[in-house]
Amino acid sequence: MKPASAVRIERVSEVGSPAWRAAIAIYREVFPTWEREPESLLARRAKTGEYLLHAALGERGEVEGFLTLHACPREGYALVTFVGVRPDRQGQGIGSALFRQAMETFDLSTGAPWLLVEAEDRAARLYGRLGMWKLDAPYSVPRYGSRDSTPMHLLAYTKGDRPPTVAGEWLRRVIEHVYAHGYCLAPDDPRIAAELAAIPCPVPVLAWPPEEP
Ligand SMILES: CC(C)(COP(=O)(O)OP(=O)(O)OC[C@H]1O[C@@H](n2cnc3c(N)ncnc32)[C@H](O)[C@@H]1OP(=O)(O)O)[C@@H](O)C(=O)NCCC(=O)NCCS
Repeated sequence: MKPASAVRIERVSEVGSPAWRAAIAIYREVFPTWEREPESLLARRAKTGEYLLHAALGERGEVEGFLTLHACPREGYALVTFVGVRPDRQGQGIGSALFRQAMETFDLSTGAPWLLVEAEDRAARLYGRLGMWKLDAPYSVPRYGSRDSTPMHLLAYTKGDRPPTVAGEWLRRVIEHVYAHGYCLAPDDPRIAAELAAIPCPVPVLAWPPEEP
């Protein structure tokens, strides 16, 4: 595996630059349509600074992977919205390096005390190994272009020790913001009420993946 220290990670702030376009090409390749937010929205958010895009660069400066961070400091969180690595470079430590860098810097780069990420089983295990914790609440991700959702894990991290729980009221506010602002769901979309009703109070914060007995 390529050592993480050999991966160069740089912020890409110019929408439409060659590095931006290379990252978008990976985005199109590795994420299915239902998971991809409209590129015009990505670009708008990057222009306002609400989205931070980081690229992992290979030896010749080519973009091999990227990570986007949605900064919502007023709501107290930053959400990793997409991490993607070129298929021929997957499994070589690039996604881990991008994610580690986000965990190290998110509080300073976004002003938010919590880092969140939504993930299916395999990616959740990766993020858990890197130090994210699982918020033990049912969670589903709205699918773009449909009224369906896909169950996922919601993982979280804040600098310091893992707290045993977080307040259910706090998580409800965060998820409502993710759904309404991040996914642009209408306020009366039934997925919002269903999700909020399922959040326990308080919400256990678990080490992830769970240790084998
Ligand atoms: C998930 C992903 C970003 C990981 O980057 P990577 O550079 O391949 O990962 P690393 O080499 O640092 O670490 C390997 C681990 O990544 C995870 N991983 C690898 N390929 C994966 C894939 N296609 N989907 C999900 N997780 C994957 C696994 O946990 C793997 O460890 P394992 O083989 O022991 O299960 C990358 O595989 C990818 O772009 N996948 C497609 C897009 C995606 O699912 N993104 C995550 C959701 S935002």
